[in-house]
Order: sequence, then structure tokens, then C-alpha cells
Amino acid sequence: MNEFETLSERQRKHVLYTWTAQGSARPVGIQTGQGAEFTDHEGKVWLDFESQVFNCNAGHGQTRITDAMVAQAEQLACAHPAAVFERKAALGEALARVTPEGIDKFFLCLSGAEAVENAYKIARMVTGRHKVIARRRSYHGASMGALALTGDWRRMAIEPGVGGVIRMEDPYCYRCPYGLSKGKCGTRCATDLERILELEGPDTIAAVFLEGVTGANGGFVPPDDYWPIIRDICDRHGILLVSDEVFTGFGRTGEWFAVDHWSVRPDIITMAKGLTSGYAPLGAVGITQDIADHFESNTLWCGLTSYAHPVSCAAALATIEVYEDDRLIEHAAALDSVLKEELQALLAHHSVVGDVRSIGLLGAMELVTDKTSNTPLVPYGKSAPEGSALSTFPAELKKRGLHILVRGHMLIVAPPLCITEAQLRDGMRRIGDALAAAFN
Ligand SMILES: Cc1ncc(COP(=O)(O)O)c(C=O)c1O
Repeated sequence: MNEFETLSERQRKHVLYTWTAQGSARPVGIQTGQGAEFTDHEGKVWLDFESQVFNCNAGHGQTRITDAMVAQAEQLACAHPAAVFERKAALGEALARVTPEGIDKFFLCLSGAEAVENAYKIARMVTGRHKVIARRRSYHGASMGALALTGDWRRMAIEPGVGGVIRMEDPYCYRCPYGLSKGKCGTRCATDLERILELEGPDTIAAVFLEGVTGANGGFVPPDDYWPIIRDICDRHGILLVSDEVFTGFGRTGEWFAVDHWSVRPDIITMAKGLTSGYAPLGAVGITQDIADHFESNTLWCGLTSYAHPVSCAAALATIEVYEDDRLIEHAAALDSVLKEELQALLAHHSVVGDVRSIGLLGAMELVTDKTSNTPLVPYGKSAPEGSALSTFPAELKKRGLHILVRGHMLIVAPPLCITEAQLRDGMRRIGDALAAAFN
């Protein structure tokens, strides 16, 4: 056993892996990192096309962030949830500046799931209504409430979870749930919300929860009129619109938040991941002044011991400064056309690639049996059968030093925003080489 294997064994004895049977866990070797790359225990350098778990938007080795964390920890590392300190106040101001106009106040928790969980509670408290709507192929986090909102297969393990979650279809144009063709569909996946409300009783619905752009379930970039239609329907029925930007926030799509692409202001916005670029745990719920006003005289029944943790606040503030100083959001927007061009080339050259889509530095690719039937290489929610070409694909990617998520028949591209154009093209070439090796 080499050093990494010995350490993995030691760790596995007492520490659980997430989302896997423990016997099938695949440990990740990471010792250090710089920019879009990280180095493992053997000194092998990897290109990080998953930004760890879609969180390391500012890239690895950002000393401006770690210095701020150290400075805060040395000054004050442990503080009461109601404590007042400079970086907490400054983070509130920074978030008010970068979030969509009208989002003014923030609840500072520890993760994306917690942000969603608290947004869920806030929506129910403010409206006095009990049901919520969420999409089928969505992910909102692993806690009980967030997983009940989640539409994808991961919710099944905890069902029946929290009651009162109604489903709506996704803007999944490649496999339109209504069997309609793109551009001629009247954006039925959005307008259908009106019919769902009619059947459910609009005054029982507190909120509609949507990912800004569906992330890990397949990068479904909605038609341009999608968000405005949903906003209009919610307004007409007094329903709160929640944009879950845990995945898409902080530049992933080439704007600070995905909803910025369509100039829509949600009532509530959830964020985590890129908020600290993964340097410290932090989630946040942003709310409008109207919602904040409700809690001036009504108790906010939300809280946690590590609320607005000082070191996490310092990390978030420094991370936002890195995005601004290095113009990383603009950089992600500029690389949008490069990623599109590279994805299109893979679509053209590989018969196994059925569809590609992207926005900013979030890309997705679907692998199919053939381009006529577009049958997914593996059924929804299932993993590749042992010995199949698909089962060899992740190993081919790894051989080429590419850290990237392959889930079922989907591949998700989401590198740190500081990636250079040359690194992005190099990573896409590695995907092409791995496709050729696994499927030809
Ligand atoms: C859209 C979305 N919401 C919520 C979450 C949950 O975030 P966390 O893993 O920080 O709890 C995720 C995580 O992937 C996510 O992609």
C-alpha cells in the first residue's frame, strides 16, 4: 500500500463517506492546489473540472482568502449568534451589493441544505401557507426538508419526507416532458404552473423553489421567457419565488446569480458553495425588505449555534473581494463561448454524445446509445452496469488527470472561474480522448 492507500484505510475505519455504500467509496486524493489544479499524494497534478463539489469557484490556493480567515481566527474565532463584529456587518453589505436588486437582508447558516431549509421555513412563516412547489429533476440538499424538496432519486431514501411538496416539470428541452419541440412549445414547463396551482389551490402554496439553472441534474438552461413567466404567475397568486443559487451563485453561469441573466428578482435566494469558495462552511438566505419587515414584529423561528461564524464570514468577504478584484465573474462570462465551442466539437465528433448545453462555466453532456433514439446510456438514477463501456469512462478521465463528475449518463463541467482558456480547452480535449478510449 502506498502512503495514500494507508491513510485512506485509516480514515475509512472511523469516518463515513457520503452518498455511497461504504464498500464502494472512491476516495479523492488532494494534498494542495493552485488555481484550477490540485495535486494528490503522489504528486500527480489534476485539472479540477468539478471545483471539488462545485464550490471552489475562486480556485485553489487563494491566500487572500486564507489570510483573512487566519486574521479573523486570531482576533475572534468563537462568537455568540447575536455578536456584532466588523466582518459580519461588512459581509451583509457585500451580499446586498452583489445579489439581485431588492434582496436586502441575510440569514447566515452553514450549508446549502441549511439555507434551503431556512428559506422553506421563512416562506411558510411569512405566507401562513403550508405547501410548496419544486421541480422533478432538482437537488436542494441532504437535510430532511431540503431532501423532501429535492425531486431527483436521492429523496426516495427518506420518503415519505416532509408533506406538502408538489412537483412541476423541468425546462429539459432535450427530453421535453411534454414531448414538445424547442422554440415551438410556448414554454409549457413554465405556463403549466398556472394549471398546477388551479388544481392545488393557489392560496395553499407558500413558495415555488427553483434552481437558478438546474446544476448537478443536467445543466438545464431554461428558455429566456421561463423565469419571467414564473415570476408573473407567482406575483398574481401571492406566492413567494425562491431561487436556489447554491450551485449557480457567485459567477458559475457568468453572472453573479443565474436569475441575473433574465433580470428576475426572486423573493428569496439561497446560496452557499461559491459564497466562500469552499474555504469555510457558510450558507445564506437572502430576503427582500418586505419579508424582512414581517420579522420586525414576528419572531424569526430560525437559528443555529454557529450562526454567522466569524471565520466563515471572513472567508466569504475575502472570496467576494477576489471575485471582484480578479473580475472572475466577467472571466466566466467571457469563457462561455469557448465552453460552447468545445462542447459542440465533442457533439460533432462522438456518436455517443447526444446533447450538450452550457451557460458560463456550467456545462453538461448526455451520453446516448445512438443519436436517432437518444436513449440514455443508463436509465435515470442508475449507475453504469459492471463491464459496460460507460463504467470504464470515469477511469479513462482519471487516467488523464481530470477530476469531473460523471453521474449516470451525464457529465457535468464546472471548473473554477479562474481557469485559463488554455486549461479549459485542454480539459475538454482530455474529455474527448477519454470518450474515444472508452467508447470506440
Ligand atoms: C442547488 C443546490 N441546492 C442545495 C444544495 C445543498 O448544498 P450543501 O451540500 O452545501 O448542503 C446543493 C448541493 O449540491 C445544490 O446544488
